[in-house]
Amino acid sequence: MILVTGGLGFIGSHTVVSLQEKGHEVLIVDDLSNSAIEVLDGIETASGIRPAFEELNLQNTAGLARIFKNNDISGIIHFAAFKAVGESVQKPVAYYQNNLGSLLNLVAEVEKAASPIPFIFSSSCTVYGEAKELPINESAPVQPALSPYGNTKQIGEEILLDAVNAIADFRVIALRYFNPIGAHPSIAIGELPLGKPQNLVPFITQTAAGLYPKLTVFGNDYPTPDGTNIRDYIHVVDLAEAHVVALERILEGKSDDDYEVFNLGTGKGSSVLQVIDSFERVSGLKLAYEIGLRREGDVIAAYADTTKANNVLGWKTKRSLDEALASAWKWEQKIRNL
Ligand code: UD1
Repeated sequence: MILVTGGLGFIGSHTVVSLQEKGHEVLIVDDLSNSAIEVLDGIETASGIRPAFEELNLQNTAGLARIFKNNDISGIIHFAAFKAVGESVQKPVAYYQNNLGSLLNLVAEVEKAASPIPFIFSSSCTVYGEAKELPINESAPVQPALSPYGNTKQIGEEILLDAVNAIADFRVIALRYFNPIGAHPSIAIGELPLGKPQNLVPFITQTAAGLYPKLTVFGNDYPTPDGTNIRDYIHVVDLAEAHVVALERILEGKSDDDYEVFNLGTGKGSSVLQVIDSFERVSGLKLAYEIGLRREGDVIAAYADTTKANNVLGWKTKRSLDEALASAWKWEQKIRNL
């Protein structure tokens, strides 16, 4: 059975469906702090299988020990974490406690297990900061984090590397995501941001749905072709599939190293204005937007070098930006009853 922490969240829920499609049995552990229990029904609709579920905060060590005792866990995919950059600056202690406490408790369970359990860690391209070379490959230096959130990802990777060195045969793959967007083609699951979305695509779809009068583009005076920031937007189903490939790589003993890192992106950079353009094309709508000030902490451009993920992991993206935005829009229309 594969333990998926945070399995009711955006990337987690899509990964659960991809795991089930490949015949893996899943146990979701989620504390519902940033997710809804109805996502379980969505997963069941998308895959035809209802996964096992335990409501638990991973800081509850007794509860976690019980879960490991009562289930035969053969792999762990760890998503559960706080992820709002701005909030992490206001509440650093809560972020370190939650994100690192949860990780440490999970690794402590691995340490106790009769044989080490393969572990996939949710990391982020945020660890590269403003990279000197584009596209960004895995040997680009990790730069000082710009937020406590980003720091929890960097420290999380360091904790796992130390654990791999200390626990015989413990194998970890850290996946550094670029910008996941979109929804499952069944439209049974998608992104459910709590409150005002901070990320571009949910803000676009919520504006188009009438929740906000307009989108503010955070700066058009960057040194890029159209002046707006460039990111690598990856369809969440492509990203989900990478998790299954990574897990199977360890389960089948195919990893070259006990600790491996892969960048997960499409390899293609898109500017904020190109994303708006693509959204307008697939939705047939005109999006209301204005150009505003730069957002503090934004890097100019970030997109992935996909060579290692393609050649070593043996995975590549299959879905386009248009497809991702079309699915995000369908999902928004569904949840707003439009
Ligand atoms: C952000 C986080 C990153 C985190 C990731 C998780 C920051 C600075 N970075 O990445 O650490 O790992 O989310 O998903 O918060 N934009 C607008 N208007 C908006 C919203 C966004 O113009 O209302 C622009 C941003 O300036 C940026 C692009 O859209 O250029 C993408 O923004 P976003 O979706 O927040 O992702 P990142 O900043 O790449």
